[in-house]
Amino acid sequence: MDRNFALEFVRVTEAAALASARWMGRGEEKQADQAAVEAMRKILNSIQFEGRVVIGEGERDEAPMLYIGEKVGKGSGDKLDLALDPLEGTTICASGGTNALSVIAIAEEGHFLHAPDVYMQKIAVGAEARGAIDLTLSATENLKNIAQAKKCNVQDLTVVVLDRPRHHDLIAELRKAGSRIWLIGDGDVSAAIATCKADSGVDVLMGVGGAPEGVIAAAALRCKGGDFQGRLVFHKEEEKVRAKTMGLKDLDKIYKIDELAKGNVMFCATGVTQGTFLDGVRFFSGGAKTHSVVMRSESGTTRFIQAEHHFDRKPRYSW
Ligand code: FBP
Repeated sequence: MDRNFALEFVRVTEAAALASARWMGRGEEKQADQAAVEAMRKILNSIQFEGRVVIGEGERDEAPMLYIGEKVGKGSGDKLDLALDPLEGTTICASGGTNALSVIAIAEEGHFLHAPDVYMQKIAVGAEARGAIDLTLSATENLKNIAQAKKCNVQDLTVVVLDRPRHHDLIAELRKAGSRIWLIGDGDVSAAIATCKADSGVDVLMGVGGAPEGVIAAAALRCKGGDFQGRLVFHKEEEKVRAKTMGLKDLDKIYKIDELAKGNVMFCATGVTQGTFLDGVRFFSGGAKTHSVVMRSESGTTRFIQAEHHFDRKPRYSW
């Protein structure tokens, strides 16, 4: 994979972030998402490559754009698979909260797990605790192993958990174990990435969130040298049937990080609203500032890109 693709694709997340940031706090989740999707697709289709959306906005019949299986790019050149979320945290954006992102992960053909749009039990940690996580073990045992790897006590660890009734038992167990808990309303991709940032105050992500977001987070953590495991969670029989038609055989399988995103992976994200890892979009007269991250698993290089966009010279960015 040409390493320069990573810099090409950051324009894609910048465009989606600029478009959706206009909807920050306006209570319109659908419009915010739609703006991000349209902008992302427009810029994707201006790039010379043969792209296929593997993780996207949903099935073709429910998502008119950036649906799973959609071909994107100019149509010739490198064949690449994309795992994308034009607006990760639609509710966050619509309510003006923190950590809404526009994200895209890129891999060679066939290297992302074709995860259905179901839930996934997840555990994510940064590089210091790589190899110390195991979804077959309890949360308490995982915390002990992570603390040992990070040379600290369980009480020193902060675990991010989505604030959902389904996490009642998990939260009770974490409290009993003595770790600190950071409950978030939405946005577990951002939380997973935060485990890799030394001063983020986040050590672990645990709990059940979206499976597509799990694949995207795994791609990001591959680049950062972190670790991730995921197990699909099904609530309806039809979800199992769909997973099987997507080629998944063992529905109870625990996926390791490189089974979710294998080979050379690139990851780009731009902050939509203010966040732990990235600043949000700031508009000024005639333009806007964006804050993005571009990472490659092969080199491990992480680039933070602060861009100043001038809409009079770049009218296609002036959403
Ligand atoms: P959206 O951007 O699709 O709204 O996802 C936000 C999110 O919080 C994800 O970060 C998370 O994985 C998932 O939703 C959790 O799903 P649910 O809100 O159904 O618990």
